[in-house]
Amino acid sequence: MTNIGVIGVGTIAYALVEGFCTALDVDLASPLSAGNLHFMLSPRGAIKSAALAETYPDRVTVCQTNQEVIDRSDWVFLTILPRDADEILSPLHFRPEQKILSIMSDHSIEKVREWTGPTAKTIRMVPLPMSALHIGPIAYTPADPEIREMFSPLGQLIELSNQEQLSVISALSAVMSPFYRVLYETSAWGTSQGLPESAAIDYMTSFFEGICVRTRTERDIESVKLLSEEMTPGGLNEMAYNTMEQDDAFASWSRALSEVMKRLKS
Ligand SMILES: NC(=O)c1ccc[n+]([C@@H]2O[C@H](COP(=O)([O-])OP(=O)(O)OC[C@H]3O[C@@H](n4cnc5c(N)ncnc54)[C@H](OP(=O)(O)O)[C@@H]3O)[C@@H](O)[C@H]2O)c1
Repeated sequence: MTNIGVIGVGTIAYALVEGFCTALDVDLASPLSAGNLHFMLSPRGAIKSAALAETYPDRVTVCQTNQEVIDRSDWVFLTILPRDADEILSPLHFRPEQKILSIMSDHSIEKVREWTGPTAKTIRMVPLPMSALHIGPIAYTPADPEIREMFSPLGQLIELSNQEQLSVISALSAVMSPFYRVLYETSAWGTSQGLPESAAIDYMTSFFEGICVRTRTERDIESVKLLSEEMTPGGLNEMAYNTMEQDDAFASWSRALSEVMKRLKS
């Protein structure tokens, strides 16, 4: 059994605990196997902590204070907002043998160590809410066998060799909301034209899923570019593509990513 402390039970922490508690175990002999993880949750956010404790009473304990979370844990997951970190972490005392997983987007490993002091490990990760469903990418650095073992049931682990690469991933992860907006705009347009909502959503989600699965067989950027240009001359895709190109819709994605990157580097 391994105790995992979680400081800040918001969207991402909820998704991770949910993912671990619903994972199908392959190796119950390992203390890091999902079925052997016990979660010590911070009293904030109270609603999500209480919901997890109610759903998984054998796996989840809600602590009275953040210090109690740390005192009862082997690993500590930092899942608070970056802007709150200094106020929340400065008064806390970590043990040298503890292992820290920081999920805060803006803070470096070196900065986290200023708050925690020397600990056995400090890992930085960019998970996503779909980890609750055991799918999607989970990028982190540095590569670590324990993280690999613990998180592999939650999605596809992407091990990066340095924090600069992780910052690029952090920036890329920021297109999640814009992408949901694309799903919304296209599905809502379909319903405005008379499609039943379920048909519009089923079609668009299956459509994008198919495009992504198809593209995963490619391993170089040039092949992905060719796919984006694979259109019937004079056809419907070409018409939509040219309309969006004239509106500068594609370049706005890389402009947004560059803006996010500026903040991550500052
Ligand atoms: N959401 C994502 O998809 C995602 C993905 C990758 C990384 N991240 C990173 O994960 C971190 C959390 O993001 P989030 O989206 O989960 O934010 P969130 O939903 O706002 O969660 C932050 C949590 O911190 C809690 N908190 C506030 N003060 C606290 C305190 N003194 N002690 C303990 N907890 C406290 C809040 O509790 P109250 O509800 O009581 O205020 C809230 O539940 C961020 O650093 C973000 O960069 C998020």
